[in-house]
Amino acid sequence: MTHAQNILITGASRGLGLALARELAGQGWQLIITARGSEALEAARAELAQQTHVVAIPGDVSDDRHRQRVAAAARKLGGLDAVVNNASLLGPSPQPNLLDYPLDALIQVYWVNTLAPLAVLQALRPHIKPAARIINVTSDAGAEAYPGWGGYGSSKAALEQLSAVLAAENPDWRVYWVDPGDMRTQMQQEAFPDEDISDRPLPEVSVPGFVRLLSGDYPGGRYQAQHFAAAPAEPVHEMRVSLTVDNLDQALALYHQGLGLPIVDEWASAETGRGVVLNASRATLELLDADHARHVDAIEVGRRSAGAVRLAFNVPNLQASVAALSNRGATPLNGPVQTPWGDFNQRLQAPDGLHLTLYQAPESVAAG
Ligand SMILES: NC(=O)c1ccc[n+]([C@@H]2O[C@H](COP(=O)([O-])OP(=O)(O)OC[C@H]3O[C@@H](n4cnc5c(N)ncnc54)[C@H](OP(=O)(O)O)[C@@H]3O)[C@@H](O)[C@H]2O)c1
Repeated sequence: MTHAQNILITGASRGLGLALARELAGQGWQLIITARGSEALEAARAELAQQTHVVAIPGDVSDDRHRQRVAAAARKLGGLDAVVNNASLLGPSPQPNLLDYPLDALIQVYWVNTLAPLAVLQALRPHIKPAARIINVTSDAGAEAYPGWGGYGSSKAALEQLSAVLAAENPDWRVYWVDPGDMRTQMQQEAFPDEDISDRPLPEVSVPGFVRLLSGDYPGGRYQAQHFAAAPAEPVHEMRVSLTVDNLDQALALYHQGLGLPIVDEWASAETGRGVVLNASRATLELLDADHARHVDAIEVGRRSAGAVRLAFNVPNLQASVAALSNRGATPLNGPVQTPWGDFNQRLQAPDGLHLTLYQAPESVAAG
């Protein structure tokens, strides 16, 4: 049996926080939940406790004593696998324009939305497990300049940058800053007091994106929960580059014998011709703008020279691969060069004119 995972979700008495807590409770996560209003929080706790172990701690995330109580609960639980900083303050509604924004209200918005998420992590630091997932809930208002959203929006923008630096400073954690998208919640109704918000999706629509980040191994960064939930886990199974070559045997000598790429499929017929598929290990698609293509050409060849397509192979021994390809019809266009990013590269031209970059990472040069 796998060990239960522990998570803190702030602001989990309603809205997105409660919807996420419900889903994770169903998956067996152990929960610490918080909110200021103790009655609603207790109702959430009682409901969630039917499925999992739940600790509910009423209080305000901007209050240090509350955070100390949360930290004590995290320690008692044996540490946290994840923290979701979800609690948030909209500020005055209707929202004033920035030039009219009362600064004491803005300080409060910044406290809850920007400083408290950091303060929570500072307080919990000894109890956050090394490979933990940290999610700071932000907003599209933190990335777009909507009139009237300057207070809340700038607090979320600051939270985004704070998250990005936290991610850079703590590479063992996975730090995500996530825009949940518009949701039919109390906060949304407060933001649009006179509007019918029944067209907004329920917070449950944003939950799968959060669960995916919490359970998967996605790189840290900014995500939009509603889009991310719908994206397939592996959008393509394989990338295949199809080259039409003048002389198939010559191409096979180059790529199969020269580079050692194993044949995984081949076919031949008098009517429809011949094809061979080689396994080129991990394939990535590199997209360069014209300036960067020129930059790479200048480094490897000294002038703009490759066409729209160039193949690049990461090889364990640059010198040996250059020799093997040169013996099979490829022409080196320059000597080996060390790139500004540290790799050792050499450009060759295949007999049909296609440019090939062979490159060796500096670690493998050092190891060799
Ligand atoms: N709804 C949207 O359309 C939308 C869009 C973009 C981003 N977001 C973000 O999504 C997150 C969830 O929002 P929501 O719409 O689910 O809001 P919500 O329905 O208003 O729920 C907010 C939760 O946070 C708690 N909370 C508020 N201030 C707190 C504080 N100072 N300390 C502790 N808990 C506090 C609330 O309980 P108490 O009031 O009892 O404390 C409640 O449990 C927020 O970060 C919000 O900024 C929402």
